[in-house]
Amino acid sequence: MKYSFILLNGLLFLGASAQQAAWGQCGGETWAGLTTCVSGYVCTYSNPYYSQCLPLSNTISSSSISTMTSSAVSSSGTSTTQTKYAGVNMAGFDFGMATNGTEDLTQILIPPKYVFTILHNDQMTHFVNDDKMNIFRLPVAWQYLVNNVLGGTLNSGNFANYDNLVQGCLGTGALCIIDIHNYARWNGGIVGQGGPTNAQLTNLWSQLAAKYAGESHVVFGVMNEPHDIPSISLWAATVQACVTAIRQAGATSQIILLPGNDWTSAASFVSDGSLAALQTVRNLDDTTTNLIFDVHKYCDVDNSGSHAECVTNNIDTAFAPLAISLRAIGRQAMLTETGGGNTASCVTFVCEELAYLNSNADVYLGYVGWSAGAFQPSWDYVDSLVPTESGNTWTDTLLMSSCFKR
Ligand SMILES: *[C@@H]1O[C@H](CO)[C@@H](O)[C@H](O)[C@H]1NC(C)=O
Repeated sequence: MKYSFILLNGLLFLGASAQQAAWGQCGGETWAGLTTCVSGYVCTYSNPYYSQCLPLSNTISSSSISTMTSSAVSSSGTSTTQTKYAGVNMAGFDFGMATNGTEDLTQILIPPKYVFTILHNDQMTHFVNDDKMNIFRLPVAWQYLVNNVLGGTLNSGNFANYDNLVQGCLGTGALCIIDIHNYARWNGGIVGQGGPTNAQLTNLWSQLAAKYAGESHVVFGVMNEPHDIPSISLWAATVQACVTAIRQAGATSQIILLPGNDWTSAASFVSDGSLAALQTVRNLDDTTTNLIFDVHKYCDVDNSGSHAECVTNNIDTAFAPLAISLRAIGRQAMLTETGGGNTASCVTFVCEELAYLNSNADVYLGYVGWSAGAFQPSWDYVDSLVPTESGNTWTDTLLMSSCFKR
């Protein structure tokens, strides 16, 4: 995620017709719109807040749900599937990171420096208990972990702070993604392509994998949002070196997330060559077990996640074509960043997007919203998913309660 703050005026008007269009919303507790779908589509329950017009051929009976997915059956008896994982990013250890991989360590926001937001670990407990979440992504700056020494050993004090977050996550029983939030860079240089060597990055991953080798619920997110990478095949070689280092350090079976070029966009994952290049990455035993493609996509006008209004559900332009490509090669992807503002347009489009992933859970392993964590209330951060608490009562943001929670 890159941070910038721009607001747009309303962009979209939906015309009325007698039947809801393909992929549109058709039900939910507060839904006042159309409830029947155009021919060939059926109104399909997703969660108490959201039903969607899905293709008849896409609706799966409970007897045919694969072992990769869990099932949910609505009170009306309609069968649906869900992605195995749903959750949220917990930002803070990545603050100060620029898209060229420079880091201002003074901006990292962790207790006791922040005082106006509920602690990360308490937020995660709420998300698990009240919103049925089972995965968290924990972004962190590479420079923070090694205290600005490229290729150096983990800094014990800084690692202890980050490990406190990881342990808080593991304590909830959820999966916990370690996300090196550096855009494939360190201080402007691209890993393996003129900047840090592959060995300097694999040294970091070897150390982290050794720490968490015994934790089955730790996921290794090799790198956040590579972009403007000159050679995708060289980048795939860097990713392969990280996978090899992680497995050799004893983390032999955990999920590893493989990120592509173009901010690891789900829309260009095939066309920019990321899928073809990363498809070659292998475990030590030559399998691809638990090597999952890492994709991002936002619902705003330029896929930046910096606008309050949403304009797309990304289905026709990203997730439907990517699903076909994934199915063809028998692989899966995880959407580790998505979201939008806490606005009506984003409720519409983000809910449509997530419902599509849920109905294609054979190829989409899960999704992780951007973002909860250390955002301070006074910042009024456009994509905030930070809950508030009063006494024993938790209140989620509009997008969290409408789309992300289960
Ligand atoms: C990286 O980007 C930051 C923020 O835009 C800028 O201040 C800095 O000079 C850049 N550094 C390099 C090495 O390009």
